Amino acid sequence: MSVTPSDALVFFGATGDLAYKMIFPALQALIKAGELRMPVIGVAHGGMTLDQLRERARSSLKEHGGIHADAFEQLASQLQYVDGDYDDPDTYARLKKAMGGARCPLHYMAIPPSMFATVVKGLAASGCAKGARIIVEKPFGRDLASAQELNQTLHDVFDESAVFRIDHYLGKEAVQNLLYFRFANTFLEPVWNRTYVDNVQITMAEDFGIQGRGSFYDQVGALRDVVQNHLLQVTALLAMEAPSGHGLAAMRAEKLRLFQAMRPLKPSEVIRGQFRGYHDEKGVAPHSQVETYAALHLHIDTWRWAGVPFYIRTGKCMPVTSCEVVATLKRPPLAVFDAVNRNHSNCLRFRLSPEVTIALGARVKRAGEQMRGEAVELVARHQSPEEELPYQRLLGEAIRGDPSLFTSDACVEAAWAVVDPVLDNAERVHAYAPGSWGPEAASAMTANHGGWHDPKAEGEQA
Ligand code: BG6
Repeated sequence: MSVTPSDALVFFGATGDLAYKMIFPALQALIKAGELRMPVIGVAHGGMTLDQLRERARSSLKEHGGIHADAFEQLASQLQYVDGDYDDPDTYARLKKAMGGARCPLHYMAIPPSMFATVVKGLAASGCAKGARIIVEKPFGRDLASAQELNQTLHDVFDESAVFRIDHYLGKEAVQNLLYFRFANTFLEPVWNRTYVDNVQITMAEDFGIQGRGSFYDQVGALRDVVQNHLLQVTALLAMEAPSGHGLAAMRAEKLRLFQAMRPLKPSEVIRGQFRGYHDEKGVAPHSQVETYAALHLHIDTWRWAGVPFYIRTGKCMPVTSCEVVATLKRPPLAVFDAVNRNHSNCLRFRLSPEVTIALGARVKRAGEQMRGEAVELVARHQSPEEELPYQRLLGEAIRGDPSLFTSDACVEAAWAVVDPVLDNAERVHAYAPGSWGPEAASAMTANHGGWHDPKAEGEQA
């Protein structure tokens, strides 16, 4: 079935943080690639002028990836700006005018979730939603109930096929490679199950704090910010079955089955932490109990994974910035030579960022008279300097009307159902020192499986 590409791009939240850090760089990159030949309209209630927005775009690009003179000039000339309140019908009347004769506009909600419903209603009432598609940023709602409500609000106006729920992790090459690597190679399948895998760990560590995003982050916390979306998506790609059949529907159906097999978390399966000094951040409530760290033990009740713990951990102010998956295989049944029970020596490591690595951890004999070994890694590094930015990739796909890298209504709700029971201070928050690996209380979680695998800093040998 052929799909009509979008003919205007509208982004709400044009003066906001996300536009500054991600959207302008993606727009310039799309223009450079010749994929954005249409009006580009920023909307915000920032009290700015078009020239000021152009200047903001310029400084955004200076900070995030650099200015490409020709592409920037082109972007500046295509850019339009509509300033106004999101609940004022006049804002949408002016937007409609700016859209000209666009028949298939793409509206991007780069705004706080609390504003989504207002904007969707404004688009519908003004006729701006006619023939349109909509991109919705994460977090998609605050919990299961609000995600269901938001899906309802969207479906009142847009068909599900016109809704593009963004999770920028799905736009990353390394994340797409998880699925590709699993299903394009034969050697993995025989061991990728409960018989051979002892445990799977996913660590997303960041060596920085909340970077001035206090008023956003304090409403959200780590579970909503990155676990419900990025990290459960990564888990789904690691654990789902191969789709039976071709095409998007088969893939989505299989992914959904996996989300549904994730057991809803119990408070005892989650450790929440908060770095010391969090309360001093602008926009954070003085006694906030919001977590900047979360570690969890997830169960996946499928034939393949029953009994295999999936440990997921994320934190701000950690010692390094990196995102890594380590699946540790069970030990050989007997120690014929030296003790083979060293932690993590037989494992598969997917490093998703900052560099992309796929490595197989093994043991080989160390040269010498004794039958003693050492841990080595068979490493595949895969980094293309030409790699698209995740937001460029995802915006490009949405413009073409291809929903493959976006999340369906059912998947997003199923992912909320997993974290729902542990949201909102279900468990106390433990303080941890900035620069540490988080609260001591999390150590016990993985103790029976060799402890946590701490990813190394960029460039350090694993
Ligand atoms: C965002 C979160 O979705 O992802 C941030 O809101 C987080 O808190 C970021 O820092 C991490 O993304 P990346 O691509 O830098 O790993």
